[in-house]
Amino acid sequence: MFGKKNKKQEVQVDDRLRHIAFIMDGNGRWAQKRGMPREFGHSHGGDTFKKIGRYCQKIGIKYMTVYAFSTENWKRPQKEIDTLMKLLDDYIEDAFREMYEDNVRVKFVGNLSVFPESVREKMAKIEKETEQKPFTLNIAINYGGREEIVHACNKLIKEGKESITEEDVSASIYTAGQPDPDLIVRTGGDIRTSNFLLWQSAYAEYYFTKTLWPDFSERDVDAAVAEFYSRKRRYGGV
Ligand code: IPE
Ligand code: IPE
Ligand code: MG
Repeated sequence: MFGKKNKKQEVQVDDRLRHIAFIMDGNGRWAQKRGMPREFGHSHGGDTFKKIGRYCQKIGIKYMTVYAFSTENWKRPQKEIDTLMKLLDDYIEDAFREMYEDNVRVKFVGNLSVFPESVREKMAKIEKETEQKPFTLNIAINYGGREEIVHACNKLIKEGKESITEEDVSASIYTAGQPDPDLIVRTGGDIRTSNFLLWQSAYAEYYFTKTLWPDFSERDVDAAVAEFYSRKRRYGGV
C-alpha cells in the first residue's frame, strides 16, 4: 500500500519515490520556545535525523539527502557554527558508520574544501568504507545549489569542454550518478528552497510543514509520502 498505513502493513514506497530530501529547519526556534539556547535544538535535531533516516530506509527509500549546513550558514554566530561543526564531527566519528546496521552508503555533498584536511580524510574514509551499501545517505554540508552548479561548470571547463549539455552538468554535480529527488520536505514553516538542490529539484514534488524539525516524526513522513502519491507528476506533459 502506497502512502497509506493500516494495522498490518507499513507504508512502503516503490520506484516512483526513490529519493527523498529534507530541509531540516526549525531547530533554533524549537529550542527558543523552551527557553533554551539554539544549540539545544541542534542536538535534538540530530536525534530526529537518525530516527527519520532509519525510518526512510525501512519503508523502502533508496536515497535520502539532508540539508545539514548551507553555504549561507557561516553568517551565524561563531558559537552556533562551532556547535554544528562539533556535532558533525561526532557523527563522523561514530554515528554515520553505525547508524543503520551497516546498510548505509554515506556521501558528503557540498564544497568540502573549506574543512580541515583531517576532517576531509575522515569523510573520504567513511565514503570509501560504505561505498557498496544499498541505502544512500547524502549529507549536504557547506552546500549551496548555486555553488554546486558553478563548481560543476568550472570542472567541465578544466576538462577542456567548450560547450556543455544538461547531461554534462548532471554528471558533474555532487550527486552525480544518483536519481534526482522525487520529494523534498521542508520543516519549520518557511516556504522557500534556501539554495537547496537547485539543479536536481527541477521536477521534485515539494512538501512543506510547520512542524519544527526536532518534532518531526515517522507519522509526518507517512503524511508527506501520502501527499506525494496523491500528486500527478506531469513533467510538462498532459
Ligand atoms: C536548521 O534549523 C538547522 C540548520 C540550519 C543547521 P535552524 O537552526 O535554521 O532553526 P531555525 O530556523 O532558526 O528555527
Ligand atoms: C536552510 O535553513 C539550511 C539548512 C536547513 C541547513 P536556514 O534556516 O539556513 O534557511 P533560511 O535562512 O531560513 O532561508
Ligand atoms: Mg532556519
